[in-house]
Amino acid sequence: MLTEQETIYRLNAAIAMELQVSIQYIYQHVYAKNNIFSMKVEKIAIAEMKHAESLARRIKELGGRPATVPSPVNIGYYDSDMVSIDINDEHSAIYVYEGLLEGGIDEKTAIVVRRILQEEKSHLKFFNDIRRKV
Ligand SMILES: [Fe+2]
Ligand SMILES: [Fe+2]
Repeated sequence: MLTEQETIYRLNAAIAMELQVSIQYIYQHVYAKNNIFSMKVEKIAIAEMKHAESLARRIKELGGRPATVPSPVNIGYYDSDMVSIDINDEHSAIYVYEGLLEGGIDEKTAIVVRRILQEEKSHLKFFNDIRRKV
């Protein structure tokens, strides 16, 4: 079972990743040529920002302060690059949240993490599906 401090540390690593993809996806929305990809990646960018919000709320309840610095953003140039980068990042997100659940977190944090994890899986499915069309 992770201590509160360890939980806050791990949630903050997840926040850095959520901030990264929310920036990455909103810029991809601007640069993408494929209209379906562009419209959907904007919605996913907003979902990622809401993940950062949920994690920040839980960190606040645990007595911590949320991270403010994103992990390095990689936009890509062609739509196909963007989708490949995003597939990687969604895999990383799933790995991080599954790791948190396996690492032993309190039930209130686990509820937040499970909900986010489900959404990351649906993002991964979208990027995998669109990969054949860009
Ligand atoms: Fe996310
Ligand atoms: Fe995601």
